[in-house]
Amino acid sequence: MNGKRPARVLVGATGSIAILQLPAFLGALRSVRLDLKVVLTPTADRFLPAATLAHLIETVTDGDPGDGHVRLSRWADLLVVLPCTAHTLSNLAHGAAPNLLTSTALAHRRPLLIVPAMNADMWASPAVRRNVATLREDGHHLVEPVAAQVYEAASGGIVPGIAPPPIEELVATVKAELRGRLAPMPRECVGPALREAGA
Ligand SMILES: Cc1cc2nc3c(=O)[nH]c(=O)nc-3n(C[C@H](O)[C@H](O)[C@H](O)COP(=O)(O)O)c2cc1C
Repeated sequence: MNGKRPARVLVGATGSIAILQLPAFLGALRSVRLDLKVVLTPTADRFLPAATLAHLIETVTDGDPGDGHVRLSRWADLLVVLPCTAHTLSNLAHGAAPNLLTSTALAHRRPLLIVPAMNADMWASPAVRRNVATLREDGHHLVEPVAAQVYEAASGGIVPGIAPPPIEELVATVKAELRGRLAPMPRECVGPALREAGA
């Protein structure tokens, strides 16, 4: 990263109810000197419409003219997936790229910072455990959910569950990532022609 410009952080938000915390998170990030953009999955766009979020911050989603996934992936010094659903976690673990966020993540050459948000039973499921392990093996950073009282739509009550850590902790994690983790990841599998081209 060029030390003179602000770090560029792309926040990728997905279709979790925890997206309701996103405006507060973005507000808290303003205490750090950053260039910020948000990319929404199509489901996230239904939870918190891009047209609303765009009043607070530059926001892109599928079908928007403009940046495109490769340009967006190169723009970002850090891609934070927050909140990250089980569905997007699976896409990221498997290299599936059905939307602008996941295709940007696939093209991004630095470790992702992933903040999962899901029901405790989903988080404990063998499939999610496998996906978490795969993403960690690939060098990405996952923030463990913490115990919390959460609203459960299934029972209509407040129940003991899990949630992403408090916003101040997430901001501290973003700052730590920006201090230590801006070097591109090695691309062992890049072929000779691309290696010679400096890819
Ligand atoms: C009200 C509601 C809340 C949801 N919250 C979550 C959640 O917190 N975590 C999760 O993994 N999925 C949650 N889902 C399911 C996701 O929206 C669904 O898996 C969707 O396909 C995710 O798409 P995306 O990851 O591409 O944004 C929720 C669904 C609804 C209707």
